[in-house]
Amino acid sequence: MAANIPQRFTESDISDEAVRSTCDDASICKRFASSIGYWKDPYIQYFVRQTGERKAPEINRGYYGRVKGVNHLLDSFLKQTKCNCQVINLGAGLDTTFWRLKDEELLPRKYFEVDFPMVVSRKTLCIKTRAPLLKPIIETHSSDSILIDSHGLDSDRYSVIGADLRDLPVLEEKLKKCNLDTQLPVVLLAECVLVYMAPERSANLVRWAADTFQTAMFINYEQVNMADRFGQIMVENLQRRQCTLAGVEVCRSLETQINSFCFIPLLQKDRFLLNGWENASAVDMMSVYNSLPRDDVSRIEKLEFLDEKELLQQLLQHYCICWATKDSNNLGLADITF
Ligand SMILES: C[S@@+](CC[C@H](N)C(=O)[O-])C[C@H]1O[C@@H](n2cnc3c(N)ncnc32)[C@H](O)[C@@H]1O
Repeated sequence: MAANIPQRFTESDISDEAVRSTCDDASICKRFASSIGYWKDPYIQYFVRQTGERKAPEINRGYYGRVKGVNHLLDSFLKQTKCNCQVINLGAGLDTTFWRLKDEELLPRKYFEVDFPMVVSRKTLCIKTRAPLLKPIIETHSSDSILIDSHGLDSDRYSVIGADLRDLPVLEEKLKKCNLDTQLPVVLLAECVLVYMAPERSANLVRWAADTFQTAMFINYEQVNMADRFGQIMVENLQRRQCTLAGVEVCRSLETQINSFCFIPLLQKDRFLLNGWENASAVDMMSVYNSLPRDDVSRIEKLEFLDEKELLQQLLQHYCICWATKDSNNLGLADITF
């Protein structure tokens, strides 16, 4: 790991194309797991094809924990703010949360998604050509016309923006063009995204969010404990596909530890606490999995026979959710937990 340190200062060897393709991996796994009953997602089928390839039970259970864990924090924020808030899904890929929130009557005042322009162009084409995706957007829009083309989508309650999260002035300009209100509470989601950015870039993004919003929560799901053998194998597997985890240095541990070489926080919590956030918590996915409602966990554990219990445990110990809050209006955001 130490031998890789200098690499994180250059982005020339990061393949953005390989990073963009990770959204297919995530959505194909989510489609498979939801198709065999781990959770309901009637919309994912319109974004990715069923590959025919079965995913291993530990992968499906891992995705179950990820989806349920992130949804738990997101829904808690929406309820705490009575939906009088905005969501910004950073590196949203082909995510379907907007449609879930609409169906569950939990839509925020506005839901923004950001991803690379190429991913956005694919997503908007799917939305434009598939009625079950387009209809809910039309239903939440007040005028006859919705701006939707290969560059993005803008409607009253939902926007899809093409931008590089490493280019903050452009990101802010595009969000404001779609009526982002910096005075309204906001929850920012980053599900397996920051790890693809060099640590100084993700730190800038986290700092920008803290400087821009007074009342906010940041939910970050990604790898952790990556310095051990299992973590190294995960990195090597991705590297074989030319996909560099440029931010893997931050994914060493949940505990406090600062890199004396460059003063970049190596941990999930520090990344937020050193960049303008008031509170931060982080738990590995084993703890998240164990905290999920037991009746639903028992239900999904009957869906498939799991031979490799230790493998599931190792997998869950190598991912985490970190969440941070800033609460100038005293909405009780610091109380949100598992
Ligand atoms: C692993 S996928 C996760 C997608 C989605 N969050 C999910 O969990 O289903 C990572 C996503 O982050 C996006 N991404 C990574 N770096 C980015 C950057 N610098 N700017 C914009 N999007 C980025 C990729 O294009 C990809 O869609």
